[in-house]
Amino acid sequence: MVHFLILQPLSESLLLWLALVYRCSSPLPETQTPLLSLLSMSLTSVELNYLVWRYLQESGFELAAYAFERNSKCLDYAHPLNRAVDMLQPGCLPNLVQKGILYALLEESVVDKLKALTLVEAVLSDQKAQEEARVKLQQTEPKKILNGSAPAETEGSVDSNSASADGDEMDVEETQDISFSTSILSSPVRCLPSLVAAWHPSTAVIALGSNDLTAVIHALNSSGIAESVTLNHPPVLDGETSLPNPISMVSWDPQGTMVVTSGINGELRAWSPDGRLKNVANSMSDLDHTAGALNSLLWNHRGLLAFTIDVNNTFRLWDGTTLSFIQEVRDTEPGPADICGCWLGDKKFALSTGKNTIKIYSVGLSGNAEDMTVVCVGQLGGHSNPITNLCFSATSRLLASLSDTDYSIKVWNSQSSQDALELNIVAEKVPDLHYHTSPVIGLHWLNRPGDVQGIELLSISMDGAVNIWDAFTGDLLVSANVFQNPDNFAFETEQEPELLTKNSLIFATAISPNGKFLAIGDDSGNVSIWDVLVSRYVNTKDLLRCVAVFPTPDKEAGICELVWDHSGKYLTACYQGTESAILEWLQT
Ligand SMILES: *[C@@H]1O[C@H](CO)[C@@H](O)[C@H](O)[C@H]1NC(C)=O
Ligand SMILES: *[C@@H]1O[C@H](CO)[C@@H](O)[C@H](O)[C@H]1NC(C)=O
Ligand SMILES: *[C@@H]1O[C@H](CO)[C@@H](O)[C@H](O)[C@H]1NC(C)=O
Ligand SMILES: *[C@@H]1O[C@H](CO)[C@@H](O)[C@H](O)[C@H]1NC(C)=O
Repeated sequence: MVHFLILQPLSESLLLWLALVYRCSSPLPETQTPLLSLLSMSLTSVELNYLVWRYLQESGFELAAYAFERNSKCLDYAHPLNRAVDMLQPGCLPNLVQKGILYALLEESVVDKLKALTLVEAVLSDQKAQEEARVKLQQTEPKKILNGSAPAETEGSVDSNSASADGDEMDVEETQDISFSTSILSSPVRCLPSLVAAWHPSTAVIALGSNDLTAVIHALNSSGIAESVTLNHPPVLDGETSLPNPISMVSWDPQGTMVVTSGINGELRAWSPDGRLKNVANSMSDLDHTAGALNSLLWNHRGLLAFTIDVNNTFRLWDGTTLSFIQEVRDTEPGPADICGCWLGDKKFALSTGKNTIKIYSVGLSGNAEDMTVVCVGQLGGHSNPITNLCFSATSRLLASLSDTDYSIKVWNSQSSQDALELNIVAEKVPDLHYHTSPVIGLHWLNRPGDVQGIELLSISMDGAVNIWDAFTGDLLVSANVFQNPDNFAFETEQEPELLTKNSLIFATAISPNGKFLAIGDDSGNVSIWDVLVSRYVNTKDLLRCVAVFPTPDKEAGICELVWDHSGKYLTACYQGTESAILEWLQT
């Protein structure tokens, strides 16, 4: 393998170069040089680690390869389903590095640089470009309203002349002037009272779970409900008496081939979209033959696996296509708190534990293809109180955890060995910011199409405080209370002054699929829609724009859940005590 012999003398500078690439593999803003943005979009640190490991192996650095693998766990990347691994030729990394050098040089005007066609030159020119990009970025980045606990931004002083020279046209308009209006949504499609709802992943079809024994599937056309089917569930008997059996969970598989419903006994029923019963899966425990209602059913990205967590904190893994049972996992350190979980990848998930830590599990094949086993592969420190929510951003690969006892939010970065970044540290409260001091009922990553960073984390508490965090630095990008500022509303008619003064509580929240709108359901049953596009809040304080209000049709109604459909066109409000409402939302 000749090329390795050529490259080995370079390996010290190679490592330098890799260190640079490594820095880039953390999420980067869009205003980078082409090389950097290309890298940050196309190469994850897991992939890079794997390539480095392959390089070390191929070049005969066995020990280094071993140590590196122990540390980085990069072989996880080479699971049997990853077809990319087979396509990697020997020498892939040196090859890519060589191309990278050429590319970095081509970015400069070429000719006079040819004399310096070395790695060091390439690194230097790359570094220069990176520095320039950073300076540019500083001028365009929205002004943070709070300095986080993050390290100081840039060491080098910025040349003020060049800054004003090319910063001008990038200036974002003053956002206090952004005009908006609060529209009143009316004439929704009405359907039966429901506890939960789930939209089909790709069509205008919704499944709703009702108070007792039934769920329905509605298909919508432009004039309303076009077709409906009812999904009947058998009564649950306790001796002779039948217990009320609310359908408290409905969920479509990610492919949209079936909808799964479940009531108080935790039995999973899978139905085809036209309402035929396909399968019944019993989540009765192997150990004690009891079953409890399910708190969650979560599918992995492709829907090949799903897990459920029931009220007894029993975790069960299912085959996502057949709903056949794979394995049950019981907390080895049970505590009083409910556990929660989320998928981190096709075969990895995180679960909170009774001891307030977070365990990372991996689903592996043992022997033949049907034999899947769940193994714990790591543990994160967790919180000092029970964890009530875990959510993962597939873009930035950051995991957010929330504890509702002390309202602490932590962000875990799998690519960093440092401790979690802590948000909402109430003790360090900065005046004028709306820290959460009541239960946080929504924690959402704002995943916008085209956003390569995926680091905006929105949290919302019952008292109406909405915060959007930069989950990488801990800075607050937006901090407002939806109920307290009259400027949040701009009604075209001056008819709704009451709405502004009410001090109500938030019961349900949902983020539109494009990450631009937040829907809120409050204790009066009103639904409101809010603009949460961070770039529209530069230099503002205390403001969150309400772009639509749906006044509750019935004062006695209680709102249970809000659900957007895949396109963001429909928003469903599940009501108890009155008909549920399907609102049409035409802004994008
Ligand atoms: C934020 O940082 C700037 C510049 O470093 C400083 O002038 C300002 O006082 C800081 N603000 C807070 C709230 O710490
Ligand atoms: C929608 O479906 C209903 C009920 O099937 C039907 O009467 C109506 O004509 C349909 N509307 C459109 C625009 O297709
Ligand atoms: C599970 O929960 C159900 C209902 O809450 C209860 O009857 C049952 O005893 C529990 N089982 C275990 C093993 O805790
Ligand atoms: C809900 O909407 C109605 C009608 O606009 C309004 O009178 C009421 O104050 C609203 N409730 C809250 C809590 O904002």
